[in-house]
Amino acid sequence: MTESTHFSTNAFCFDFRCFGIKSKRIIMVVLSLRNLILSVSLAMFATLTPFSNAAPTPPIPQVDACGVLGSKNSSSITYDDVSACYKAIPYDPVVASATLKTLHAFFNDYYVFRDSALTPDLKAPFSCPPVDIAKEFERIGQTKYTSDYSFHSDVSRAINGLYDAHASYNIDCYTAYAFGQPFALYAPVVQGRQSIRIYRDFTRRGYDDCEVVTIDGEDALTHLIKFADTLNFSKDRGVRLNQALASETFDEKRGVFTTSSGQYSERLDLPDKARVNYELKCTNNPTSIRLSEEWRVFALNEAQFTDVKSYVTSVCLPLTQRHQDLPSTKHLQRRELETVREHEVRKRQLYPVPKKSIFLDAVPSAPSEDPTGGDTDLPTAQQLVAGNGTVFYQLQSQPDVGVIVVHTHGVESEGELQVAADGLAAFHARNITKILFDFQGNGGGSVNFASFLVQLIFPNRGDLDKSLRSDLRITPSIQDLSAAVFNASEGHLYNAGIYLGLTTQAPYQNNDLFLHPVTLTRNGRPALYSNSTTLDPVTLGGGDMAGYPWTNNPANVRFLTDGRCGSACALSAHSLHKLYNVTSYGVGGVSGEGLSMFSFAGGAVSSLNDVNKVYAFGKVTSPLEPLPYKGDVNLPILEVYANGSDIPLEYDADQHPVNYRLAFDPVNARKRNVMWAQVTAHAWGQKSA
Ligand SMILES: *[C@@H]1O[C@H](CO)[C@@H](O)[C@H](O)[C@H]1NC(C)=O
Ligand SMILES: *[C@@H]1O[C@H](CO)[C@@H](O)[C@H](O)[C@H]1NC(C)=O
Ligand SMILES: *[C@@H]1O[C@H](CO)[C@@H](O)[C@H](O)[C@H]1NC(C)=O
Ligand SMILES: *[C@@H]1O[C@H](CO)[C@@H](O)[C@H](O)[C@H]1NC(C)=O
Ligand SMILES: *[C@@H]1O[C@H](CO)[C@@H](O)[C@H](O)[C@H]1NC(C)=O
Ligand SMILES: *[C@@H]1O[C@H](CO)[C@@H](O)[C@H](O)[C@H]1NC(C)=O
Ligand SMILES: *[C@@H]1O[C@H](CO)[C@@H](O)[C@H](O)[C@H]1NC(C)=O
Ligand SMILES: *[C@@H]1O[C@H](CO)[C@@H](O)[C@H](O)[C@H]1NC(C)=O
Repeated sequence: MTESTHFSTNAFCFDFRCFGIKSKRIIMVVLSLRNLILSVSLAMFATLTPFSNAAPTPPIPQVDACGVLGSKNSSSITYDDVSACYKAIPYDPVVASATLKTLHAFFNDYYVFRDSALTPDLKAPFSCPPVDIAKEFERIGQTKYTSDYSFHSDVSRAINGLYDAHASYNIDCYTAYAFGQPFALYAPVVQGRQSIRIYRDFTRRGYDDCEVVTIDGEDALTHLIKFADTLNFSKDRGVRLNQALASETFDEKRGVFTTSSGQYSERLDLPDKARVNYELKCTNNPTSIRLSEEWRVFALNEAQFTDVKSYVTSVCLPLTQRHQDLPSTKHLQRRELETVREHEVRKRQLYPVPKKSIFLDAVPSAPSEDPTGGDTDLPTAQQLVAGNGTVFYQLQSQPDVGVIVVHTHGVESEGELQVAADGLAAFHARNITKILFDFQGNGGGSVNFASFLVQLIFPNRGDLDKSLRSDLRITPSIQDLSAAVFNASEGHLYNAGIYLGLTTQAPYQNNDLFLHPVTLTRNGRPALYSNSTTLDPVTLGGGDMAGYPWTNNPANVRFLTDGRCGSACALSAHSLHKLYNVTSYGVGGVSGEGLSMFSFAGGAVSSLNDVNKVYAFGKVTSPLEPLPYKGDVNLPILEVYANGSDIPLEYDADQHPVNYRLAFDPVNARKRNVMWAQVTAHAWGQKSA
């Protein structure tokens, strides 16, 4: 066996845990609380009882709608119960105006894309109309709402319209339940025609791979594309479609790929109607099948409530309003904050704890039920090494190709780099000469890891190969804050010490970055930004990399994406492609249209609560009042640019299209090794020996 390589790394920090250790690093955090909850809800769907065609809900008597919901046991809650309770909460002008005041100030003064978002006619692969987000909030402020729910939904819709997963409004009040359909759908191209089909029928009624002709009377593909336009995930509608539909997701615990239903079939937001009507066409059955499937409801919140009033108190309002005696002014350390979040998420995960996993472990199914083979293990790719974010496979059909699945950048860089060193050494020991990265479904994580990953293949370059030109919005309040926190050891976005002067290539020794802003005019609107800077880059030490046949050799490297390679993952993909000319392959999306290599490359994200913690830490009065409801709002604070471009990467459509497109089909959508073999054959020939 080859010796494992030991990389020396600079000091680093991991995700939001920077605060606990003495380091001046910044991380792009992608997993918002809502993401975490969502992934929890996916797991929960895996542990629920099978769908039954239950009788229609009895009419709800004239009583308090949240009282009805609160009195039900979790397995008997229906769509109508949740819908009625949500809609029974009266519009509260005090809550609404306080919410809008904070959102307006946060987006107007801190949101780095406030004026870029006004860009009309963004080029393909983007499909994303201009948004004046401050005006949107003003419009909402003048709208009469019949319920609190419709007000908050409209706020969500406005922020979703930015098509940036870094910008989000997450409140617990209206995400207390999750909703699931019995089918996972996908959009394969068969004989040149794209259509919606059933990827998996969780009820095992034999509908796998039946074509879905219509949904609620509308052409199913059109319906799905329209639905995908309500997701904020990407500026590219092909990527949004991939996000709406089923995919194979790497399951770290089991070390295999498992099915995720996608955001059409599994939702946190209340669906419009109690049921979805499908018209199916199945092979060997000339007549179409009409099904009306109710949403299964899963409670995510343990809170007890007996009526509308107590629902608002225990689910919607923050803790501090319930327990006035809690220390609310004391600055929470970031680490403590995360502990609170993790705790909340764990609690949710534990809520209904049935033992048997019905949804995901329904395999293996008999061949007659599933002609393409339901199992998702990889018979022709051998797993060699696996870490928390990277998994190394050797493709058995093309044994000189090694596949590195990077399913998340949310890893502890130091440990994961050791895994990667072992993985590359194992590839080399097996005479692998070519590398295919698979970035599908990677929501990002550590910025340092994004840079390290690229340096594993392209080592020993200059600082600006490792970190992109960046800037952020400046206001007098931000200047006060930056002055107060400049000398603090904690690394966060308003501490100049974490940045590198673009011309000096040295870390800032003073606060000039924030004190001497420049005016940039975008779409006719001037605003103050910091001078161009860059995050202080991380450097990977030497190791055995120089001797590998793929090192500094883009001809031997490819990457595969479904466009759902976000944030820190986007930075890796962008660098590989733009700086090192690595060829990219994109799978899925809308047939005949382009597809983005990555989404929400944006820059660094922060949240209202976190920015306010920095204000508290710096003992500077924050101009941002907390939200009335429990939750948070995220937005990008720092923007990055591709080398040579003055358009922020998030809006720079030219930097996005993949080189080659691949369609999902009934086989490659279910078997990654088949998809890898397709890319490999195209890249290096069928028998790439
Ligand atoms: C919950 O409701 C279901 C359906 O009405 C019933 O079968 C079950 O026994 C109830 N469970 C509890 C704990 O009350
Ligand atoms: C935007 O997307 C993120 C991540 O997918 C999600 O957590 C968030 O809730 C979405 N935003 C809104 C306004 O719903
Ligand atoms: C993977 O995650 C686990 C749990 O957080 C951690 O204990 C372990 O050290 C991590 N492994 C690596 C290689 O970082
Ligand atoms: C790798 O190639 C060398 C030289 O051709 C050969 O001796 C060795 O057996 C090969 N190793 C494997 C694992 O195929
Ligand atoms: C950025 O682009 C310029 C030319 O536009 C080039 O000279 C320089 O090497 C590039 N920098 C990097 C880091 O690729
Ligand atoms: C930061 O600290 C150093 C040494 O403690 C001091 O010399 C310097 O003036 C401080 N800078 C600012 C901006 O407070
Ligand atoms: C911005 O940086 C450039 C060099 O990169 C420098 O020439 C210019 O003076 C700076 N502007 C301000 C306002 O500091
Ligand atoms: C980039 O890669 C492509 C395909 O491998 C190749 O044709 C092209 O010459 C490369 N460009 C540069 C600037 O190296």
